[in-house]
Amino acid sequence: MADQLTPETPDEADEKPIQQRKNSLYPGVSDELAENMKSGWADTELRDLEPIAQAGHTADRRAALSRRFPGERLVIPAGNLKTRSNDTEYSFRASTEYAYLTGDQTEDGVLVLEPKSSAGEAGHEATLYLLPRSNRENGEFWLSGTGELWVGRRHSLAEAEQLLGLPAKDVRELAAALAEATGPVRNVRGHDASIEAALTDKVTAERDEELRVYLSEARLVKDAFEIAELQKACDSTARGFEDVVKVLDKAEATSERYIEGTFFLRARVEGNDIGYGSICAAGPHATTLHWVRNNGEVRSGDLLLLDAGVETNELYTADITRTLPINGTFSPLQRKIYDAVYEAQEAGIAAVKPGAPYRDFHDAAQRVLAEKLVEWGLLGDLDVDKVLELGLQRRWTLHGTGHMLGMDVHDCAAARTETYVGGDLEPGMCLTVEPGLYFQADDLTVPEEYRGIGVRIEDDILVTEDGNENLSAALPRRADEVEAWMAQVKQA
Ligand code: GLY
Ligand code: MN
Ligand code: MN
Repeated sequence: MADQLTPETPDEADEKPIQQRKNSLYPGVSDELAENMKSGWADTELRDLEPIAQAGHTADRRAALSRRFPGERLVIPAGNLKTRSNDTEYSFRASTEYAYLTGDQTEDGVLVLEPKSSAGEAGHEATLYLLPRSNRENGEFWLSGTGELWVGRRHSLAEAEQLLGLPAKDVRELAAALAEATGPVRNVRGHDASIEAALTDKVTAERDEELRVYLSEARLVKDAFEIAELQKACDSTARGFEDVVKVLDKAEATSERYIEGTFFLRARVEGNDIGYGSICAAGPHATTLHWVRNNGEVRSGDLLLLDAGVETNELYTADITRTLPINGTFSPLQRKIYDAVYEAQEAGIAAVKPGAPYRDFHDAAQRVLAEKLVEWGLLGDLDVDKVLELGLQRRWTLHGTGHMLGMDVHDCAAARTETYVGGDLEPGMCLTVEPGLYFQADDLTVPEEYRGIGVRIEDDILVTEDGNENLSAALPRRADEVEAWMAQVKQA
């Protein structure tokens, strides 16, 4: 085949044997039933559809990608369903790279940017490869695992073209066409095994990694659509935290699971999902950084560390933590530790501004925490500079003070050091500032009353032209404001 992706005609595709559903309840189908199922269906084609809200933005993102890799074929898959058990699958979440470049979230979809064919012509032709509507003539509609009778109506290719603003073709022909295509090609790995198999002799890990790195770095600065989505995610998350405060007595009667389920309801009603496993950590569980088992007791007098985020329908997530006194009032020691973390967070947020080195906000927060630990006598006679030099505060501060936020909770993770942790902040970047102090229940180096207390406060901070904006400011942070807010929410 020539250096072109030329799918078979739709008629040829229709001749292929359909793949029967796993564990089909219909081992035998009479000719009469097969004939009956072919017809009597209304034309439901949607016409004159408006493009999705971010169509202009996705076109800009593809144009930037095209400029970075001139003359090369670029393949960006959405990914496939993953089996959970037998014939049930995990809920599908499109790859971040695919959703970022198309605005689409359909399983098995693949975006291909093909260099324009005329010699010397710059740029690429972008094509979206998707599964079309189910064929009713050959039984695919109701007998195939991907049949719309089972999985729901899909957009036709013509509908997808109108919505997404780029041409769409049948994805069932793509792997074979890619296997035959010539010329330089790069693929985003880890999402679609059939595409990877088709490209196995044509790509290298190093060149594919350059594409992944580019797509991570492209997302460091958010466009206007993305910033609005992040604000939406934070606002939904704030409502989810309120929901939790309202039901703390029910959680006390059951477990941390009540909190997890309550927040999840908000995430699913207002958004696509939670952006990561909710950490609903009561009492000493707050000292376990990724406590997602959420099966522990919720006790009056303890703290609840709730770290959760709603992911919007366009796949942007918030990442917010509040540490709340379960009975509504901090004890004096809880408050002392909470106030130290609050002060560290204030110092961290103040360091978020355009032109500042990315590492500044971490250093500012760590210094405050180290000062408090020295003041409380937990580090012997050492002064703060020596503690920071040796990193001794880290026994209790445990993690970095934040990370980029966007479609992934730990966004832009493939970006190079020089553009991310070793780079400078720019307007449009969005990051978390989330210092914490954690005294493990079995830590014999701290007074007994500290043991089992964990506090983190986490907000989502947008770098602006002249400083920053806290996108999660709807949730109070200062200890007295947290107590007042809890009292008011419980009364409402
Ligand atoms: N929720 C994960 C984090 O805060 O990074
Ligand atoms: Mn975080
Ligand atoms: Mn978090």
